[in-house]
Amino acid sequence: MPNSEEFAENLWIIGGPPVRNFGIPLPTRMIVIKLTDGGLWVNSPVSTPAEELDRLKALGPVRYLVAPTPLHLWRLQEWKDLFPDAELWGPPQISKRFKQWRFAGILGDASPDCWARDLDQTVLRGNCFVEELAFHHKKSRTLIMTDFIQNHPIPAGRPIPSAIAKLAGVAYPAGGVPVDIRLSFTDRKLARRSLAKLLSWDFDKLVIAHGVCINRDAKPFVKRAFRWLEH
Ligand SMILES: [Fe+2]
Repeated sequence: MPNSEEFAENLWIIGGPPVRNFGIPLPTRMIVIKLTDGGLWVNSPVSTPAEELDRLKALGPVRYLVAPTPLHLWRLQEWKDLFPDAELWGPPQISKRFKQWRFAGILGDASPDCWARDLDQTVLRGNCFVEELAFHHKKSRTLIMTDFIQNHPIPAGRPIPSAIAKLAGVAYPAGGVPVDIRLSFTDRKLARRSLAKLLSWDFDKLVIAHGVCINRDAKPFVKRAFRWLEH
């Protein structure tokens, strides 16, 4: 698929239009997993051209539309209309704006039966503003995170965005947890407990929503990204 890649077995990443964050364009990405039962699990869907949608539909029926963070809830909107039979799964914190949606379930620390065979999951807690879900695709040993780790390539000849990415600690290849997110982890004990569960998973690849993904040796990368949490 153009603009899409089979990142690991039964796991595709598909780029979407950028969103603006503090005036800087932020690339977006959705993650599609073909579950053992043949259904598709779609995390953080993005606007997708018709031909890519057709290719996606050929992979299997879209069964689950997942927003792992309240910041990605709005991104379900378009797909909810495209796939009315798909179940909506939202994060623990849902603002009033989205409360009227009919969610099949709210994501928690245990995977629901419908995808437990394929995915582990946990809520990353301890941040006073936002919680997000992390998932582990067991078959491909891939950790799926959202905004808490970012890894942005430095654009050539763009000194200001480059300096901002470096200052924020999210410049490729040494990406990590953006400084504003780091600073808002006020309950570090709780955060360490979430991180311990995530690190107990046997993963070696990392998919993130914004920036370059890691296709091997991802565990040391993730440990380094959260090293500040040790103190
Ligand atoms: Fe995001």
